[in-house]
Amino acid sequence: MDRVSTGIFGLDEMLEGGFPKGRAVLIAGEPGSGKTTFGLQFLMKGVQAGEPGVFVSLDETVEHVEEDMAAYGWNFRAAMKDRKFDFIDMIPTRFIELKLDGVLHLITERVKSLRATRAVVDPITAFLFTEKDEYQRRLHLIRIFETLSSLGCTSLITTTLGARLHDEFSAEEYLSHGVVRMRLTTSATGAVRAMQVPKMRGINHDKAIHPYVFQGGKGLVVYPKEAVL
Ligand SMILES: Nc1ncnc2c1ncn2[C@@H]1O[C@H](COP(=O)(O)OP(=O)(O)OP(=O)(O)O)[C@@H](O)[C@H]1O
Ligand SMILES: [Mg+2]
Repeated sequence: MDRVSTGIFGLDEMLEGGFPKGRAVLIAGEPGSGKTTFGLQFLMKGVQAGEPGVFVSLDETVEHVEEDMAAYGWNFRAAMKDRKFDFIDMIPTRFIELKLDGVLHLITERVKSLRATRAVVDPITAFLFTEKDEYQRRLHLIRIFETLSSLGCTSLITTTLGARLHDEFSAEEYLSHGVVRMRLTTSATGAVRAMQVPKMRGINHDKAIHPYVFQGGKGLVVYPKEAVL
């Protein structure tokens, strides 16, 4: 299976080279765990590699995202000018008006126009709020994953993870091709941010829990040789 570099320092090593190409991976994390950072870092890696990417933001404007990510030195404006990066500001009122079909149509247009091979939807939770019926929610998810895969994109979908340590798998986790979990936990030395890949179809990946940090000038850095005890 072809791989796509994740852009997260240390993570490719846990995945034998990167995410499986053309698949949809769920980034499930607690509030503030770095889901948005993860998604943008993945796209900026693509920009470096000449692989255009589209970011679909369901909760933040481009101005706020730029401010939040200032520490990492990513030049979104230059990437947009070079047509290597596109930011779709999908505020909730807009997608409620457009409904799922409209949203998927818009994403498809923008991905095609940029010839993007990477896409991020952050977070999916807002999409699913509009649908109360569990069966319909699953259908929504399948349609989103399928649309992104059929466009030839390697995609990340972010979702919020509950604070319990041993959460059961959610529908999102069952339906996606792979899952990366991020949480804040307590180790012998105090609070530590921990990353784990519980699932990645088709890959013999590392399943252990490893520490990670936010590092200025770089972004997310995971330490695959260190364990969280
Ligand atoms: N300059 C910085 N240096 C180190 N860590 C930082 C810096 N700026 C932000 N952070 C960390 O990044 C976190 C926010 O990252 P991010 O926005 O990617 O998280 P998120 O999971 O998308 O959050 P949300 O659930 O609110 O969407 C903060 O909680 C903070 O711990
Ligand atoms: Mg976020």
